Amino acid sequence: MQVVLIVAQSLDGFITRHDEPGVAWASKADQRWFGQALEEFDCQVMASGTYAIVREHLRSKLEDGRLRIVMTRRPQSYLADQQSGALEFSSQPALEILESLKNSDRTSCVLLGGATAHDAFLQAGLVDEIWVTIEPRLFGQGTPVIKKRQDQQLEMIDTQRLPESDSLVIRYRVKK
Ligand SMILES: NC(=O)c1ccc[n+]([C@@H]2O[C@H](COP(=O)([O-])OP(=O)(O)OC[C@H]3O[C@@H](n4cnc5c(N)ncnc54)[C@H](OP(=O)(O)O)[C@@H]3O)[C@@H](O)[C@H]2O)c1
Repeated sequence: MQVVLIVAQSLDGFITRHDEPGVAWASKADQRWFGQALEEFDCQVMASGTYAIVREHLRSKLEDGRLRIVMTRRPQSYLADQQSGALEFSSQPALEILESLKNSDRTSCVLLGGATAHDAFLQAGLVDEIWVTIEPRLFGQGTPVIKKRQDQQLEMIDTQRLPESDSLVIRYRVKK
């Protein structure tokens, strides 16, 4: 099972613009690239803060054969949204989530944030690659890519300037 963390951040390392929820600040070029990148994965993992933002959008996608797992300490609060095999809610640690994905024959997992999900998977050593879009923005404040103290070493795979933009996608392998 390959696990790839995909994230868009400002040059100064924030995944949100100040206190504003969502990623409306991300460039059109990144939004196009992100949509295509998601096609590569048969499962998606995100934490509940991120799910709250994409919930309505996700509802139209639930028949595409992909499994989404939402990390929450309160799965019972989401029983109305639960759709077995398409949208599931879990309070399990990252390692157990990954084991259950492997057991369900999924082969590639994209980690969609936010910082809680990034921390949990990175700290457990479960992220194989990070694909980060560096947007040409400086926010000074916002939600950081990760919140917990870590020291991960990354090896660059490649870089790509997105078409007609100043956005840069850098792909890294996480050294283990
Ligand atoms: N720029 C980007 O690429 C990008 C990517 C993703 C998200 N975002 C943005 O980032 C924001 C959300 O990020 P976020 O970091 O604030 O939230 P988040 O990581 O998406 O979710 C945080 C929530 O996860 C739940 N959770 C699950 N397991 C937990 C655990 N073990 N310990 C603690 N909490 C746990 C908690 O809610 P419960 O009460 O449910 O347990 C917690 O409030 C949104 O505005 C989203 O649009 C941006």
